[in-house]
Amino acid sequence: MSRWNHGETYRRQAKASGYRSRAAFKLLEIEKRFAVLRHARRVVDLCCAPGGWLQVVVELCGVSDCRILGVDLAKVKPIEGVELMQTSIDAPDLASQMLKSLGGRATVVLSDCAPKLTGNKTVDRERQVWQARTSLELALRVLDQKGHFVTKVFESNQAGGLRNQMRKLFQSVRVFKPKASFKSSPEVYLIAKGFLGSSPKTAEYDL
Ligand SMILES: C[S@@+](CC[C@H](N)C(=O)[O-])C[C@H]1O[C@@H](n2cnc3c(N)ncnc32)[C@H](O)[C@@H]1O
Repeated sequence: MSRWNHGETYRRQAKASGYRSRAAFKLLEIEKRFAVLRHARRVVDLCCAPGGWLQVVVELCGVSDCRILGVDLAKVKPIEGVELMQTSIDAPDLASQMLKSLGGRATVVLSDCAPKLTGNKTVDRERQVWQARTSLELALRVLDQKGHFVTKVFESNQAGGLRNQMRKLFQSVRVFKPKASFKSSPEVYLIAKGFLGSSPKTAEYDL
């Protein structure tokens, strides 16, 4: 299937299902395979605009038993039961604001960050890996022990380094390419389950 047809198929499906983005299907595939949202009580979605992933979280976790927080530079149209913060993921004090808004430590941190593409593959990959690393730094500050972290990352040497660092911090780290993702895109998702918390391993960790 051509890139255009592939994108169009998912865009149509998103429209028919009421999702704001075709990205929603990527999270549905991740959930089907890895069950990161099962039993989630406090979920953060970093780089959440326009809100497709948030809609999936609301659908799977419900809003009565789960606190859901979305963060993005862009303004996101309100979603019932979801708190939104319009700010950058590297804003000072974001971790403490997130903890306050969640009312405790997060069970799941999701991150689907992507920079505005420049067309220069090296620059784009570096910027995206910086976003994934910044998301991990936030996750380390807000995640509960045994919590899960999912992040998009553009495959590159630096992404390999990030994955190896994550392996010291979580019980398991898997690499996953959803069908809804373009084959030609460098994006994959790192699915990290079981945050080890402040174990000696994480204390050694130097981002
Ligand atoms: C691929 S979209 C996310 C799609 C989203 N998961 C969904 O399901 O609708 C990537 C997002 O990253 C956001 N972004 C990029 N850099 C950011 C930053 N420094 N802080 C917060 N958001 C950022 C962009 O504004 C954009 O909305």
